[in-house]
Amino acid sequence: MLSWYQNHQRNLPWRHTTDAYKIWLSEIILQQTRVEQGKPYYHAFVDTYPTVHDLAAATEEEVLRLWQGLGYYSRARNLHACAKQVVDIHDGRFPGTYEELLTLKGVGKYTAAAIASFAFGEAVPVVDGNVFRFFSRVFGIQTDIASSGAFKEFFSLGLELIDQNQPGNFNQAAMEFGATYCKPRNPPCLTCVLAEHCHANATSTQHLLPVKSKKTKVRNRYFNYLVFYYEDKVLVRQRPQGDIWTGLYDFFLVETEVSEKPNLWDSFLHDGSPDLILGEPSEEYKHLLSHQRLHARFFPAQTGSLESLEQLAQQHDLQAVSLTELENIPKPVLILRYLNDVQF
Ligand code: ADE
Repeated sequence: MLSWYQNHQRNLPWRHTTDAYKIWLSEIILQQTRVEQGKPYYHAFVDTYPTVHDLAAATEEEVLRLWQGLGYYSRARNLHACAKQVVDIHDGRFPGTYEELLTLKGVGKYTAAAIASFAFGEAVPVVDGNVFRFFSRVFGIQTDIASSGAFKEFFSLGLELIDQNQPGNFNQAAMEFGATYCKPRNPPCLTCVLAEHCHANATSTQHLLPVKSKKTKVRNRYFNYLVFYYEDKVLVRQRPQGDIWTGLYDFFLVETEVSEKPNLWDSFLHDGSPDLILGEPSEEYKHLLSHQRLHARFFPAQTGSLESLEQLAQQHDLQAVSLTELENIPKPVLILRYLNDVQF
């Protein structure tokens, strides 16, 4: 596996550093997205915040804006909190052991093992989705990887296997092999360097491994966005805590139990906003989160004057922003998709 890695590894920016800060940044980003999509975010973060001090000194809103598009924004908030923790408690240096790294905000077993092995050469194995797949196939492990004991089992196996002299390379290689060779569908086993040693190859069970039980059901939610605007001003609101997208900006939201297209405005107009010029509602946008499927429709409405826009803002706790400001505040991908399709 290590010699395969030497010849076939991708040239990735975070593989040319032992700076724990940069490695940590890359790993947090890569938990959220694939390598190709993650690279520009990695560069943006490293360029904007060259050190952990710079990131700690940023505002949360700046960090969320730079994270925009990656989704799962609590990761971005943890990223920021972790940077502050490193600066405030650890004097700006990431702690150098697996156990200490685990005390950092948003750093779980995977990330701690990645930083400890890549930056500090500690022999602690990473266990991610790629490693689950690769190990379960080679060793014929039938454990449900969604079960509570699975991590420990694969971690113990990793501890036995890891190369004590080059633990970082071992971990990178295991993940790289899982990601680019021992792929979920149609892995190229005929030319695989491990084929002779692989249980799944011997028993033609590649497609059955790893064993993973079905996830919890997704919940359908119906979002009706009332997009109030006047000339180049739009009403937005910053989302509160307690639901998805805390701290990001969207529009006035009416959530309903079912899709509501025809009579949504009827109920809203009863409480008197007489001078609205209603536009065509958008098509339905479907947006999948980890446990929710959002069905969103946007209902644009131009107010008759700037005053009535401001009055609406007052009444409903919204903020009037210009289109330029709208560009610069952090927004969920769903809102970006709509804004890319629409012209005010
Ligand atoms: N995915 C997660 N961490 C990675 C890394 N360091 N290199 C490539 N892909 C990854």
